[in-house]
Amino acid sequence: MTTDTMRIFLDTADVATIHDAYSTGIIDGITTNPTLIMKSGRRPTDVYDELADMGIRDISMEVVEPTAVGMVREANKLIEKFGEVATIKVPCTKAGLQACRELANNNVRVNVTLIFSPSQAILAAKAGATYVSPFVGRVDDNSFGGLCLIKDIVNIYQQQSWFQTEVLAASIRNVRDVGRAFEYGANICTIPPNVFEGMYNHILTDKGLELFDEAWKCVEATTVT
Ligand code: G3P
Repeated sequence: MTTDTMRIFLDTADVATIHDAYSTGIIDGITTNPTLIMKSGRRPTDVYDELADMGIRDISMEVVEPTAVGMVREANKLIEKFGEVATIKVPCTKAGLQACRELANNNVRVNVTLIFSPSQAILAAKAGATYVSPFVGRVDDNSFGGLCLIKDIVNIYQQQSWFQTEVLAASIRNVRDVGRAFEYGANICTIPPNVFEGMYNHILTDKGLELFDEAWKCVEATTVT
């Protein structure tokens, strides 16, 4: 089931892992990138095919051509094959923004990725992006506040009553940042599988369950049937 708010995407191209997580009914979409596809060891279209067969309705597929014309050509092939399942991911470069404009004019969902500043998010929005992907972890790696970037972009869009572009927090490396990104107004968080596992796993839940199970054994022993 897809909800409109607080959406969680998985940031991986590992089909088996996605299958396992998607079966929870909690995952709303998938983001991939060239590094994740390389790690999967598979052809990108084979990965997308299997994800689409699973019933996933929003898969970010990154185009890699250097020019806007090339990106649009690559995107059109993906759209032809995968239709509305495909969200085309373009980098926040001049060519990427040009491609974004053209694709958005043709009602294609575009995810503008590699966003590291509010100014990039402004241009991506004006180019018609459906999603902007600020890289929280990589901003943190460089001694700036990744979550502040989310907050700044959300504030700008809100101040300007700009509702057609959603903030998709990416490069999320830990559970805490998921909560914070949503608190600061991100519409979507895309997270690696280990962070997804970390979100529901808690040592006190395991301990509590252990105590309940122990208690239940005594209930069973004393219950008269
Ligand atoms: O969604 C972008 C993400 O894949 C990058 O994550 O951890 O390589 O910065 P990371």
